[in-house]
Amino acid sequence: MASKILIIGACGQIGTELTMALREKVGNQNVIASDIREGSPELMASGPFEVADATNFEQIQDLVIQYEIDEVYLMAAMLSATAEKFPMKGWALNMNSLFHVLNLAKDKKVSKVFWPSSIAVFGPTTPKKDTPQTTIMEPSTVYGISKQAGERWCEYYHNKFGVDVRSIRYPGLISYKTLPGGGTTDYAVEIYHEALKNKKYTSFLKEDTELPMMFMDDAIRATISLMEAPAENVKIRSSYNLAALNFTPATLTKAIQKHIPEFEIDYAPDFRQAIADSWPSSIDDSRAREDWGWQHEFDIDRMTEEMLEGIKEVHHV
Ligand SMILES: NC(=O)c1ccc[n+]([C@@H]2O[C@H](COP(=O)([O-])OP(=O)(O)OC[C@H]3O[C@@H](n4cnc5c(N)ncnc54)[C@H](O)[C@@H]3O)[C@@H](O)[C@H]2O)c1
Repeated sequence: MASKILIIGACGQIGTELTMALREKVGNQNVIASDIREGSPELMASGPFEVADATNFEQIQDLVIQYEIDEVYLMAAMLSATAEKFPMKGWALNMNSLFHVLNLAKDKKVSKVFWPSSIAVFGPTTPKKDTPQTTIMEPSTVYGISKQAGERWCEYYHNKFGVDVRSIRYPGLISYKTLPGGGTTDYAVEIYHEALKNKKYTSFLKEDTELPMMFMDDAIRATISLMEAPAENVKIRSSYNLAALNFTPATLTKAIQKHIPEFEIDYAPDFRQAIADSWPSSIDDSRAREDWGWQHEFDIDRMTEEMLEGIKEVHHV
């Protein structure tokens, strides 16, 4: 029998594509999407959807029991830029939702958990280039502090209670189906929309700010393959470094100009520049490659082709 999966925060940038990919894989009825708001028409029409608040333990537990859930993917969170504006709300959402799911797994009500971490766990004192899996971690944002604490709790629940929790430190994710939800790498999605619509873009990060990034298809493939890996291969139970590309706004502009030569960019850095400056510019993900066979597929040119075509098709630009 196929595993029954609950996705919490299913209507966001990652949740939407993850839900559709898992429905394709294990059958629409076996993947229950949940969120505090409705999602895309495609997501709503393709399988079960429930309104549920990730910070409400009873609501989440009821869904787990009602649908006999085996696996939970917890995608609800407040992202880096928004959490700087609402620190206590961000902390409460990011931590309480994780405890609820870990406690359900500790009580054997679910057997496997996916929880995403982020490159935001690193901070200004972390080595910036090829940031190792294990290194100095002094995050300087509310979001980063919540992700680092979350990682420690995941490992703790695994060691103490045998919880099968798996996690990835996602880099900035780039996709065209759902807009990003308030992160520091959102510029790398907005730039494509503006390039197509207005042929110009004002970047909120400086031209030479290099950050680790990944096309969404690669991130979804990584997530599902980590969840499918035999438990003994998943040797890291805090969170895995994961990498594909690193680029700056200037490099991304050049890649777009190959398709839209008249595209122009200018720069007006805002508060997100300080967040970006505290993060790595590239990531060493050799442990993910060794332990569960991770390999990325999309480079900057292939991603740019997919983004421009995808936005034209989905958003009729
Ligand atoms: N997108 C990225 O580039 C990126 C990078 C690193 C890590 N992550 C992590 O991946 C996860 C998903 O990110 P995303 O980009 O899809 O975020 P998003 O903001 O696009 O989506 C989050 C979803 O959670 C929902 N949500 C918010 N509060 C909720 C609550 N109380 N109960 C239930 N649902 C709630 C929102 O309605 C939204 O649909 C987060 O943990 C995020 O920190 C994302």
